[in-house]
Amino acid sequence: MTLDIRLDGRTALITGGGSGIGLAMAEALHAQGAAVALLGRTKAKLEAAERQIAAGGEGRVLTVVADVNDVEAVADALREAHQWQGRLDIVINCAAPLLAVGPLAEADEAVMSDALNAKTVGYLRVARAALPLIEKGGTGRIINIAGMAAHMLVPNIGVAAAVNAAVVAMTSYLAAEAAPQGVLVNGISPGMTLTQVWLDRHAATAEAKNLTPEQVRDGMVENLGIRLGRWARPEEIAAAAVFLASDLSSYVSGQVLQVDGGLGKSVI
Ligand SMILES: NC(=O)c1ccc[n+]([C@@H]2O[C@H](COP(=O)([O-])OP(=O)(O)OC[C@H]3O[C@@H](n4cnc5c(N)ncnc54)[C@H](OP(=O)(O)O)[C@@H]3O)[C@@H](O)[C@H]2O)c1
Repeated sequence: MTLDIRLDGRTALITGGGSGIGLAMAEALHAQGAAVALLGRTKAKLEAAERQIAAGGEGRVLTVVADVNDVEAVADALREAHQWQGRLDIVINCAAPLLAVGPLAEADEAVMSDALNAKTVGYLRVARAALPLIEKGGTGRIINIAGMAAHMLVPNIGVAAAVNAAVVAMTSYLAAEAAPQGVLVNGISPGMTLTQVWLDRHAATAEAKNLTPEQVRDGMVENLGIRLGRWARPEEIAAAAVFLASDLSSYVSGQVLQVDGGLGKSVI
């Protein structure tokens, strides 16, 4: 097998591919030659993403409207993505709601179980539906987008921590279970990544505190101690996804890459 970063002839499904990190990953995989299917709940958002990707070059893009909370819709979506090109090589779990902020001890029970259901169990629903369909000849990949909250203590993000830590644990088990079929399961934990949800949060905080959005962002970099001194661009998370999707990761299984500017680096 020639080790190559190109993804020509492969098909990828990206949940949450209509915006943010999911869209950046879809663009990056498409630029490497993959046919990309974008899954999300909002048709208009997916169609705008499709136009953006198609403007970047030739290649195939499919939009699939589905809610990852709905087990039957997920199964239908995976079948549709598989039938589209007659194969499914790469499945990226990225769809998630905005996770609640505040002390964990005060988090509403429903908030916690809804978050776990949408992200952790949502990823499992997609992975389960994908496994029977995904290529077993060496190109099969499942990539779960967790988050740095899984790896380090930061005040007020306990809900995200529990959800993402569960995604990391699930990635380890799915990797072990899928390895005999030749399917590689890995994850990425992004650090602070400048997507629209954060741009909106920064604008709101800036207005409330009479600051600029840049000052809000810089303050978070300093408070969190992000070693590279800045937020990530979504494309920087996507670069790690291209590596994990490609032949270059052919001996990587059960790992979660921390793409966080050194935010969560421990000594060993
Ligand atoms: N940005 C960061 O700093 C950061 C840091 C660590 C981890 N992450 C993780 O990275 C992933 C992407 O985050 P992002 O910042 O790019 O957020 P985003 O732009 O809000 O992307 C989330 C996407 O998921 C879709 N989605 C949400 N709930 C869904 C559902 N039930 N079924 C199907 N699709 C659903 C959304 O589209 P619809 O609403 O139209 O369905 C949206 O396109 C998430 O898993 C997040 O936890 C982000």
